Amino acid sequence: MRIDLLSIFPDFFTTPLNEGIIRRARQAQIIDIGIHNIRDHAEGRHQMTDDRPYGGGEGMVMKAEPLTACLRAVPSCGGKRRVILLSPRGVPFSQEQALRYAGHDQLILICGRYEGVDERFSERFVDEECSIGDYVLSGGELAALVVTDAVCRLLPGALGCADSAERDSFSRSLLKHNQYTRPPVFADLEVPAVLLSGDHAAVARHRFVESVRLTLARRPDLLAGLNLSREERKTLKEEGLLAQVEYAAMAGQMGRQA
Ligand code: ADE
Repeated sequence: MRIDLLSIFPDFFTTPLNEGIIRRARQAQIIDIGIHNIRDHAEGRHQMTDDRPYGGGEGMVMKAEPLTACLRAVPSCGGKRRVILLSPRGVPFSQEQALRYAGHDQLILICGRYEGVDERFSERFVDEECSIGDYVLSGGELAALVVTDAVCRLLPGALGCADSAERDSFSRSLLKHNQYTRPPVFADLEVPAVLLSGDHAAVARHRFVESVRLTLARRPDLLAGLNLSREERKTLKEEGLLAQVEYAAMAGQMGRQA
C-alpha cells in the first residue's frame, strides 16, 4: 500500500513516521509513504496557500489551486485509490473505516488548516472527508497520522505477532481485556489466578468475560454490533451477564437507527 500526505507542514510527520511499527513497515516495504509540501505548488513570490473567505468572516481558507497542483503531482501507483480530506466536518473515523481504507492500494490524505478548504477543490477531487473525533485540532496533520497508524497496523505483516490486530479493542465490538505482566504481586495487587493456571480454555473464558464486563461499563453502545456464538451466550448466562448484554445491544441498535 502507498499513503501520500499533503500538508503545508511536512516536517510534522518526520518523527512519528520514523518510529515503531510504521518505521518497520516502511523498511519491509509493506507501506510506502510520500510526504508532499502544498506550498511547493503555490504560485507567486509569497507562495500563498490560503486567502480570505468570500462573503467575509474570520480566518483564512486554503486555496484550491495549490492543493490541486500538489494532488496532481502525487505519483499514482495504480489500483484502488481514495482521496481523503481530514476535517472536523468529516465522517467519524473508526476501526471499521480503518479496515476499509486498508483494502485500498493508495490513500491520499489531505491535511486541511485554517477555517477550511475551498469547497470547489473538495467537490472536484475529494472522495470523502474524515474526522477523528468531535473536537477541533489546529489542522489535519495529527488526524492524518492517526489514520496512517491505524491503517498501517492492519496491513499483512506489519505487526510482529500475526494475529494481535484481531485481538485489539473494537475489532469485535468489544473493548480489550485487562493485561498483566511480571511481577505476580505489585502494590499488594495480585494477578488474577486463572492467568497463572496454564489452563488455556479457562484463560480465554476469563478474558472474554472481562472484555464484556469492561464494554458494558464503558462503551455499552458498542455491543449493538456484537455477534455471539452459542458457547459465548452460554458463558454469559452462567456469569449472569447475558440479559445486560442483550439489553445494551438493543438500546445501541435503537441509538444507531435514531
Ligand atoms: N482537523 C481539525 N480537527 C479535525 C478532526 N477532529 N478530525 C480530522 N481533521 C481535523
